[in-house]
Amino acid sequence: MEQISLSWLITLVALFLFLPLILLSTRNKANTSNNFPPGKTGWPIIGESLEFLNTGRRGVPEKFIHDRMQKFSSHIFRTSLLGEPAAVLCGPTGNKFLYSNENKLVQAWWPSSVYKIFPSTGQSSSSEEAIKMRKMLLSFFKPEALQRYVETMDTIAKQHLKNEWENRKEVMVFPLSKGYTFALACKLFMSIDDPIQLARFADPFAILASGVIAIPINLPGTSFNKAIKASELIRKDLHKIIKQRKIELAEKRASPMQDVLSHMLSTSDENGTFMSEMDIADKILGLLIGGHDTASAAITFVMKFLAELPHIYNDVHKEQMEILKSKGSRELLKWEDIQKMKYSWNVACEVMRLAPPLQGGFREALADFTYNGFSIPKGWKLYWSTNSTHKNSTYFPNPENFDPSRYEGNGPAPYTYVPFGGGPRMCPGKEYARLEILVFMHNVVTKFKWEKILPDENIVVNPMPVPAKGLPIRLEPQVC
Ligand code: HEM
Ligand SMILES: *[C@@H]1O[C@H](CO)[C@@H](O)[C@H](O)[C@H]1NC(C)=O
Ligand SMILES: *[C@@H]1O[C@H](CO)[C@@H](O)[C@H](O)[C@H]1NC(C)=O
Ligand SMILES: *[C@@H]1O[C@H](CO)[C@@H](O)[C@H](O)[C@H]1NC(C)=O
Repeated sequence: MEQISLSWLITLVALFLFLPLILLSTRNKANTSNNFPPGKTGWPIIGESLEFLNTGRRGVPEKFIHDRMQKFSSHIFRTSLLGEPAAVLCGPTGNKFLYSNENKLVQAWWPSSVYKIFPSTGQSSSSEEAIKMRKMLLSFFKPEALQRYVETMDTIAKQHLKNEWENRKEVMVFPLSKGYTFALACKLFMSIDDPIQLARFADPFAILASGVIAIPINLPGTSFNKAIKASELIRKDLHKIIKQRKIELAEKRASPMQDVLSHMLSTSDENGTFMSEMDIADKILGLLIGGHDTASAAITFVMKFLAELPHIYNDVHKEQMEILKSKGSRELLKWEDIQKMKYSWNVACEVMRLAPPLQGGFREALADFTYNGFSIPKGWKLYWSTNSTHKNSTYFPNPENFDPSRYEGNGPAPYTYVPFGGGPRMCPGKEYARLEILVFMHNVVTKFKWEKILPDENIVVNPMPVPAKGLPIRLEPQVC
């Protein structure tokens, strides 16, 4: 409550302070004749961020995009987000343009709030940092390595369901699925499996995640301010863990390939330089945030759709029972088993079409250029969004229908299905996410049936889409 009223107070103060500027800027706009994309820029400084965040809180983040596509253009429109002039590119052409011009005309960009929460991102250019991170991740998540994680994931999924789901009549899906993906990330990235340490981390992380997309106003009480504080707290703990690990590595009590942390500490760049501790702490932080909130949102929506669509549940159950029956009673899932989960993955894909964990991504123009006849000045921020294609009937006939068969054969047309983005910046955690989602689906459908307790629960987006009340469900053990 305190947080909401404070941010509104700030908004009010800001409006009064900037009223003269607003009038000035609207008058200016009418007079200038440039060739910028159609659209409006909203209030100075805050821009259209409030509308953007508000449509998100009301559960319709796409509405912001969609309303403006209808009003201005279905290809591109101009706006101002999180304090920066921006244009939103729509449709597969827009996606293709942004994905394939990475480091040529555009580069990845994050709202300035992110740089304050992760100070090391500001030290070198974001693209250099991201390239380092990608290399690191891709080598850590290469297929041979991922194959080894399947058993760990299965062990943790089984533990999680035993401790938190079994023998309960009702559970709250969203917090639990966060618990699962977080426990998994802590184990695979840092070898942490102590429940006390996990609990210590979990709360500040939640605060941090919601601050990343907040309006970057650093005053006591704002989500942004709380996020900075939370990140300091976690970073302190991470530094302790990193120091400890360095000692263990030196004494050969830890292996360089044991987890992401060891991997980062043991890998140098081509000049023999190792990453600094601060750099490592920030990277791990980023991974934990980027990696667990997205996947837990996906899992929550898988649970929601399976509750709503019994025929889909039955087909997933059938596929997973065949896999279960082919194995010994104590045998853990293996890579080969995951490859058999084709239908289940199509279901997860369809869930991420209808409820994508990330709505889109930002870029920054590296040079002046024209797109679709409109000029984009160097420095403008650009945005691609999933909804501009995921819900368009040209690419997904009857887009509101849940239809896993869309992904059979050749699947959707290029640049239309983009829950993980595309091009050089495509999500490097995609395969990891696929494994953790499928391992969870296997365990949950072979053990339970469930129904929603609240038939009409709203969806809010903060910053990932989630059911407003956390998706409470009624559980029934599955009789096999
Ligand atoms: C269902 C789960 C996930 C979804 C839907 C998702 C989606 C995305 C998307 C759309 C992007 C690209 C943003 C852009 O183009 O600007 C991205 C980037 C990224 N993701 Fe994921 N992600 C998921 C899981 C993960 C996991 C599990 C990890 C790590 C273990 C991860 C790590 C990253 C990183 C590091 C980037 C930045 C890559 C770069 O800037 O080059 N993601 N993700
Ligand atoms: C998402 O886009 C589709 C078509 O592109 C549109 O029909 C739908 O209303 C949009 N969703 C929202 C909430 O704006
Ligand atoms: C390695 O050193 C060279 C020459 O000093 C420099 O140009 C290059 O950027 C360095 N590479 C990295 C990854 O720091
Ligand atoms: C869907 O895509 C088509 C083809 O690109 C486009 O003409 C149309 O405006 C889009 N529809 C919506 C609702 O965005």
